[in-house]
Amino acid sequence: MSQETKALFIIFGATGDLAHRKLYPALFRLYQKGYLQETFAVVGTARREWSNDYYQEVVLDSIAKMNGSEEEKESFSSHFRYQSHNVKDTEHYHTLRKLADQLDEEYGLEGNRIFYLSMSPSFFGTITSHLKEQSLVTERGFSRVVIEKPFGTDFDSSKELNDEINASFDEDQLYRIDHYLGKEMVQNILALRFSNRLIENSWNKESISNIQITLSEKLGVEERGEYYDKSGALRDMVQNHVLQVVSLLTMNKPEVFDTDTIRQEKMAVLEALKKPVVSFDEKTDFVRGQYAQSTDGKVKAYREEDKVNTETTTETFVAGQIAIHNDTWEGVPLYIRTGKRLAEKTTRVDVVFKETDSSLFNDQPSVLTIHINPEEGFELTVNNKQVGPGMNLEPITLSGLRSDEETEKSPEAYEKLILDVLQGDETHFAHWGEVATSWKYVDQIRKVWDCNTESIPFYPALSMGPEESDQLLAQNGHEWVYKG
Ligand code: BG6
Repeated sequence: MSQETKALFIIFGATGDLAHRKLYPALFRLYQKGYLQETFAVVGTARREWSNDYYQEVVLDSIAKMNGSEEEKESFSSHFRYQSHNVKDTEHYHTLRKLADQLDEEYGLEGNRIFYLSMSPSFFGTITSHLKEQSLVTERGFSRVVIEKPFGTDFDSSKELNDEINASFDEDQLYRIDHYLGKEMVQNILALRFSNRLIENSWNKESISNIQITLSEKLGVEERGEYYDKSGALRDMVQNHVLQVVSLLTMNKPEVFDTDTIRQEKMAVLEALKKPVVSFDEKTDFVRGQYAQSTDGKVKAYREEDKVNTETTTETFVAGQIAIHNDTWEGVPLYIRTGKRLAEKTTRVDVVFKETDSSLFNDQPSVLTIHINPEEGFELTVNNKQVGPGMNLEPITLSGLRSDEETEKSPEAYEKLILDVLQGDETHFAHWGEVATSWKYVDQIRKVWDCNTESIPFYPALSMGPEESDQLLAQNGHEWVYKG
């Protein structure tokens, strides 16, 4: 059985969708695996007046479809308490502290506390300063703060937010969630790169032509129109998930495999990103788009979505080419694209190798594909001699895809990330330096786009984005490997 970890979780935003969909199921899986057993408790807080019983029902509901006996689920949910809480009211923190101390005693938690902030970032500073001032932070055990995105809306606002939080907590107590960093195949990138000499030796500008990162979603904005219309795909996906994947794909080899060294290497490559050229003509490094109705008229346009401005020019699609200014990557474009209402839900990286430099064969570029979601695993497409006379080539794909069963078993990102928080491992969280550098990069694009809010290219829902996305690669003689 796994080593049991002692801790009290205090969740701010316990009545929210994220807690229901992700946190309670993740905690239950950790419970089933033995990481959480008798010595843990959860206090859920939010404005609403809920009883403990009702809260435990909600928790049970969130894990209803998961494997596990009724008895096991009941005993898990008995660790949950609810406390109605106004984040601005000092008195409420006193009440919360009493409850926390009592649970600490009851469950033998040794003063270990995890404060999980799953609500609007505008409250983060208020909450963290109260936690400190009203002594919810204990002297005895660890106190860690988990922060959900979005961490600001640009560099200035994220810096302000960070300063507020830093007034009460140090960087090494902060766990900024980027759930992509908890994905099995995103974590696998470093293993693939640095445990295979074959790959390690060819992971550079001498061998690689270009790298393509696709984070495409089939869903539209669903119920999140209000947030999304202010955010857009650039802030929602590129500043965080896309740039984190870029940094893992291109960072130099860390001398040792520890959090600080990995962070330093990720930072070094993010700082080496060239300033993007952004314009509204074909010389641009970044293009945007917004989904219109699908060609059969069955799927509605973004402008028709709930809580979205009917004349909005917010982008639901971004494609770009990122250039890195260092010895390893000079001249190798990293193409990225992400969008809503695209043809398929797929998250993948296609690494396109250069052709051989001899004229012996009419060879095609080899491609290594890292499938992140929904499939997990690798595929390598190489040239192969066609059976029979002559020396004609055909592509063959070597597949390292996991079976559906294996993929099903692989732990969900939140489960892994919460376990990391429990164990004090910050490797798979976004460090302030990375967040700040990513915002600075994205702000340069935003600044230009915000000068033109009159129009935006459209793409039919369920396509692979506007034609500008294909043109971006075509100008370098490249094309997207994944065509949807
Ligand atoms: C979130 C974005 O961070 O990531 C959402 O806010 C997006 O808009 C989601 O849908 C995508 O995550 P995943 O894991 O489904 O690729």
